[in-house]
Amino acid sequence: MIEENTTKSGIEWQRTVEGEHAQSDRVREETASDDFWRPVAHRFVPPMKGESAADDTVERLAELVSPTETVLDVGAGGGRLAVPLAEYCFHVTAVEPSEAMREQLVATAEAWGVQNISVVPGTWEEAVVEPHDLVVCAHVVYTVTGIESFIRKLSSSARNTAALITFERPATATFLPLWSYIHDEERIELPTLPQIESLLSEMDIEFSKVRLKEWISRPFKSKEQAFTECQARLFISPDSDKTRKLWDVLGEVLVEVDGGFRLKWTEPHRPQIVSWDV
Ligand SMILES: C[S@@+](CC[C@H](N)C(=O)[O-])C[C@H]1O[C@@H](n2cnc3c(N)ncnc32)[C@H](O)[C@@H]1O
Repeated sequence: MIEENTTKSGIEWQRTVEGEHAQSDRVREETASDDFWRPVAHRFVPPMKGESAADDTVERLAELVSPTETVLDVGAGGGRLAVPLAEYCFHVTAVEPSEAMREQLVATAEAWGVQNISVVPGTWEEAVVEPHDLVVCAHVVYTVTGIESFIRKLSSSARNTAALITFERPATATFLPLWSYIHDEERIELPTLPQIESLLSEMDIEFSKVRLKEWISRPFKSKEQAFTECQARLFISPDSDKTRKLWDVLGEVLVEVDGGFRLKWTEPHRPQIVSWDV
């Protein structure tokens, strides 16, 4: 059961997230998959050990923890942050509901030779974990409906600091303009940094912000890969009229770049750390 939001921002947040989910269900031509993250889980891993990441999130988070302290990563994905952070602290606990993501995380930890990490399967709402010194939650809250209790649980599970990592614009911003071409309607945008700021203020949480390096997603390797990913983001089935329309649209809006193809309006991601002491 979702605990009710009570602030103006919390209520608005829930309305937006539920509206976005309802919009997906309304246009969906295929049955939703059991594990939404399986096709993209490979994107949420860190680079190979020793190679530098496209962004500075791990370096900035590492400044918030010492080698004797513990980190809790909520919605850890494939270990993009959890695995490298384990090298800066005593232990990392990774809470992650998606099996595909957990598989990536375990494989990555093995490849990095990282052993001071444990995985708690399940959502944050249902997880039972001890407090940790630093609690990190990166790019997870966008789809959470019971946002106020989610945030309160992050706070109460942190001994020192809780840190959200969020983009200024939706993570899927690059796919949004396709909605009006294919579905003849604007896509509802999930909450991001501005809504997080209003929400935390209304919850009387005093936070600070650190702007991280901008980074741009890897290009689609081929036109076929672009097509498959866009089709999935638009929830359309392979043999529908909308899919045929998508081929035509992509012919106009895909541009060739170094390493593949991008939608012509693609902008870099602009992430920030929003953190507070507890
Ligand atoms: C966009 S990915 C981000 C993964 C990772 N934090 C990163 O920054 O690379 C979002 C992750 O949050 C997880 N997630 C979604 N809802 C969640 C919830 N209610 N509790 C915990 N994790 C959740 C998903 O399974 C997914 O792995």
